[in-house]
Amino acid sequence: MTGRKKTGILISGRGSNMQALIRAAQDPHYPAEIAVVISNRPNAQGLDFAKAQGIRTEVIDHKAYGSREDFDRALDSALRRHHVEIIACAGFMRVMTKTLVEAWRDRMINIHPSLLPAYKGLHSHERALADGATRHGATVHFVRHDVDSGPIIAQARVPVLKSDTPETLAQRVLDAEHKIYPKALALVASGALRVEGEEVVATAPGVTLPVVIPVLP
Ligand code: GRF
Repeated sequence: MTGRKKTGILISGRGSNMQALIRAAQDPHYPAEIAVVISNRPNAQGLDFAKAQGIRTEVIDHKAYGSREDFDRALDSALRRHHVEIIACAGFMRVMTKTLVEAWRDRMINIHPSLLPAYKGLHSHERALADGATRHGATVHFVRHDVDSGPIIAQARVPVLKSDTPETLAQRVLDAEHKIYPKALALVASGALRVEGEEVVATAPGVTLPVVIPVLP
């Protein structure tokens, strides 16, 4: 397929969502190709998988930079050096400056382990269980400066079971994340959607947005 969108994946750790995106992009008909994986942590586990798949990787260690602005500038120039057109954050644990977010407006997506706008921030599974929530899930959205906010592209809903612990619930949500993230990136990369007034709307026939995938137990 020609014109596959060059995608840069940002990670900080395990990289299981990164793996799901890399695997999806191994299909030559997938509309995105992974141009680079960048980690802000030198020992992020995900780097090994990416390298083993022959994907270019870079480490931009945030500890080597005196300010958030300097780190973001280094990140931005690495992304541009790799001709990245779309950024997919996959467990990237750095808050970005407004300058970086705006430079990549509507070209940077993120996955968050909750049905946004519920449970922004950390420990979403623990909080859902503490609230007695009966359903939970994951969301892929365009990145805005306010953390875990921005136009929603796709959500996966999973049930919360009475027997759940944060770990079992996290695993069910993670399995769902691996399904929706490749679907959401494909929609962005194929030009099937655009952002209008902070809502994601379909530009291709037959696409209903946001994509909501119910995952049954
Ligand atoms: C995922 O739960 C993702 O939603 C959140 O951070 C976690 C990253 O996991 N943003 P992994 O590194 O993709 O395995």
